[in-house]
Amino acid sequence: ARDILIAPSILAADFADFGREVRAVEVEGADWIHIDVMDGHFVPNLTFGPPMVKALRPHVTTFMDVHLMIAPVDPMIEAFAEAGADLLTAHLEAGPHPHRTLQAIRAAGMKAGLAVNPGTAVDAAAPLLDLCDLVCVMTVNPGFGGQTFIDSQLGQIARLREMIGDRPIRIEVDGGIDARTAPAVVSAGADVLVAGSAVFRGGTADEPAAYGANIRDL
Ligand code: DX5
Ligand code: ZN
Repeated sequence: ARDILIAPSILAADFADFGREVRAVEVEGADWIHIDVMDGHFVPNLTFGPPMVKALRPHVTTFMDVHLMIAPVDPMIEAFAEAGADLLTAHLEAGPHPHRTLQAIRAAGMKAGLAVNPGTAVDAAAPLLDLCDLVCVMTVNPGFGGQTFIDSQLGQIARLREMIGDRPIRIEVDGGIDARTAPAVVSAGADVLVAGSAVFRGGTADEPAAYGANIRDL
């Protein structure tokens, strides 16, 4: 059996209190912290960049999983390395040279992730897999938290699991993951579950018990 990791997305946390929110969710059982970087161009929403990742670094004792929903990616790689990201995930759709981008992420000393939108066949990732530590199958169209899980992505997850074979590459799923959808994505082959609203609902950094209960439910 594979170990399943839970990666709460701080997109659903209190934006005025990220430091305490990540510490709370780690105490309550988070394996990784998932950080959604959006540029207002690649996706129709805007969040934060390297300075925020750097400010969070001392608060995260687990693993900083940074999901870039930006284009272009390459000019920003060094800044995220300096900010302390452990893993940097770029979208396959972010530009014409994903191979170069993945090489550059590893050359900067980070683990490399490749995210694939629901409208892209995971087969397009085949030539890139040996440059990936993780492939993120988007189970919503990226840009916002709280969206509905796209069921047809289950087939893509299973296909990717087959393509990966015995290579040490994690499959992450991101979007609409909750206690109802989690069993299906795990059966299909996912082993890193990103969850925003399903983790942060019902609690606060001051009263984080609900975070723990939500993580155990997942
Ligand atoms: C969506 C982001 C997700 C988002 C997931 O573009 O990449 O990480 O926070 O939120 P939920 O879990 O609420 O669907
Ligand atoms: Zn994400």
